[in-house]
Amino acid sequence: MEKLVSSWYNNVQRVPQDYIFPPEKRPGDLRVPVDEVIPVIDLSEAEQGDRTPTIQKILKAAQEFGFFQVINHGFSQNLMNESMVVCKELFGGSNEANKKSNSSEDVSKSCRVKTCGVRCSPDKVHLWRDLLLHQCHPLEKWQHTWPQHPTRYQECIGAYSVEVKKLASRILALICEGLGLKCGYFEDEQLSGRMFLSVNNYPPCPEPSLTLGLSKHADSNLITILLQDGVYGLEVLKEDKWIGVEPNPHAFVVNMGCFLQVISNNKLKAAEHRVVTNPNTARTSIAFFIASLEDRIIEPAKDLTNELHPPIYRPCKAKDFLTQFLAMDGDSGAVLRSLLA
Ligand code: OGA
Ligand code: NI
Repeated sequence: MEKLVSSWYNNVQRVPQDYIFPPEKRPGDLRVPVDEVIPVIDLSEAEQGDRTPTIQKILKAAQEFGFFQVINHGFSQNLMNESMVVCKELFGGSNEANKKSNSSEDVSKSCRVKTCGVRCSPDKVHLWRDLLLHQCHPLEKWQHTWPQHPTRYQECIGAYSVEVKKLASRILALICEGLGLKCGYFEDEQLSGRMFLSVNNYPPCPEPSLTLGLSKHADSNLITILLQDGVYGLEVLKEDKWIGVEPNPHAFVVNMGCFLQVISNNKLKAAEHRVVTNPNTARTSIAFFIASLEDRIIEPAKDLTNELHPPIYRPCKAKDFLTQFLAMDGDSGAVLRSLLA
């Protein structure tokens, strides 16, 4: 069992050897210049009448960056704050014993705390991150499998899961309309019925230039809705440059997964992103992933292809995509290239 980073980081002054990335993959010393900004979209505008301007902003951001943030989304700020507090407690010092009892490497366990590495030639490199990963919906099926400590976890994250699912559906409906797909396209259980949540904990790191909280990847799902605390860490790759995502505990970060890139026939982009660490403050994020059932075929939507715009990708079962994704060490670009028609 690999020891959780949050359990020992306090005892080290240097990053252990097996957490050090090869030089070309390290984040380096400079904080990324934020000369471009991930678009921030006010969702209340779409509620007040014409949805078109909001849809256009979403599509543009999803095309250019593969990322945007939403504000005035109607999600209760109290619930956002509460959820963040509970998730921070989960990895806090006072919860050490419970954290250990929830931790497991048994992949068949639907809810577990873990820490992991990435294959990074020639060796595996550990990530400076612990996480709790579990399924979410239907709540009746999964909620009782979630951690019992902090005692508010199940109730609070249950409420959070319900609300974040509604928010994801609203955003998918706007994307659906923007792409010109038939109404309700994403409301298909097979396509978007697998939902899980990961609570990411990035402890303070004595040498942030040598390691990463999460290495470069794109998400292998449909769409991800992420809540960040106020701590910087998330960066998005655009035209070979890393752009920082402003941490805003009032906003949700939305990013397109690879399946949305395939379905939209490259109209939307599953951007690669990473998480850098810092020496002073632990960072927590709550990621809600909408994914597809294993046997669902993922392919460019028929309504978006014709003789002039042939499908760019071959059909592929969701589970085969994931198998490839793991075999290629999470290199989503390589998986997408292997599916080119
Ligand atoms: C992820 C991810 C970003 C973050 O979990 O896939 O990219 O800020 N998380 O934790
Ligand atoms: Ni991600």
